[in-house]
Amino acid sequence: MKRIAVLTSGGDAPGMNAAIRAVVRNGIYHGLHVFGVYRGYTGLIQGDFKELSVGSVGDVIQRGGTILYSARCDEFRTEEGRQQAVEQLRKHQIDGLITIGGDGTFQGAKKLTELGFPTIGVPGTIDNDINGTDYTIGFDTAINTVIDAIDRIRDTATSHERTYIVEVMGRDAGDIALLAGLAGGAESILIPEVNSSLEEIVARLKHGADRGKKHSIIIVAEGVGSAVDIGRQVQKATGFETRITVLGHVQRGGTPTAFDRVLASRMGAKAVDLLLSGKKDMMVAIRNNEVLGIDFDEASGQKHHLDLSNHHLASILSI
Ligand code: F6P
Repeated sequence: MKRIAVLTSGGDAPGMNAAIRAVVRNGIYHGLHVFGVYRGYTGLIQGDFKELSVGSVGDVIQRGGTILYSARCDEFRTEEGRQQAVEQLRKHQIDGLITIGGDGTFQGAKKLTELGFPTIGVPGTIDNDINGTDYTIGFDTAINTVIDAIDRIRDTATSHERTYIVEVMGRDAGDIALLAGLAGGAESILIPEVNSSLEEIVARLKHGADRGKKHSIIIVAEGVGSAVDIGRQVQKATGFETRITVLGHVQRGGTPTAFDRVLASRMGAKAVDLLLSGKKDMMVAIRNNEVLGIDFDEASGQKHHLDLSNHHLASILSI
């Protein structure tokens, strides 16, 4: 193996740059030429490759976003698009590819391996919704961003004695809502993995009010539904003054936390090690603080596990 390439695809996540840096520098350390592919699978199809030097990834470990840019590429979903991608990889004499992204990225990566091209995935998504890994790159930064927002909202909620409904990202997964809600002391956490009725939410709010609580924060994962709708129903059912905040893409940007930088550095370096040891179709994962390779089939297209004991704990602690 002499020449490898790296790309980022799907939604960007803080720590992706630290992962790219680790791929480039560990690759060069092992005598490889490392190429960056720009704009994810779109750049792969179009042949947008550039060799990356040690210096080209200097001063990026602390930056959010991705220096390789990202895209969601419909063309890559077609057989023809993927054939073009493999042709470009062969034209540039690339021996192995590292894809950094979420589940959509890995479904694409798996297709490349089926076409015979060695590909290793690195989980980079704020959603933490990939099966087989305890954490994905960007999740820790995102929940810290959400906690910061909850703390600020709580100040106003207290001053005005209001109920706030805060909608967070996560696609179909409740990880961001659950951990940020637990860490932020939310009164209720609504996630797709647990059914919560309006009656229960209202009962909790009223119970809190009865014991003197003057404000409340409810965290809603986007996969549950619109915070606007839920807010309207809550206000109608309780009569409490209610406001809605949809945090949106602020959760995707920003300086990665130390946890995400370390995770990204370990995972990026491991991806290179896996390619060098002849592995062709794996995703890098972290389990019990060990970074390892797992089969794409275990990671891609599978429902990931969310520890619901934290939901139970949050409901006990926020009575
Ligand atoms: O997968 C990351 C994520 O931010 C999800 O939480 C969210 O549902 C989605 O991407 C938003 O995608 P886009 O940036 O394309 O609107």
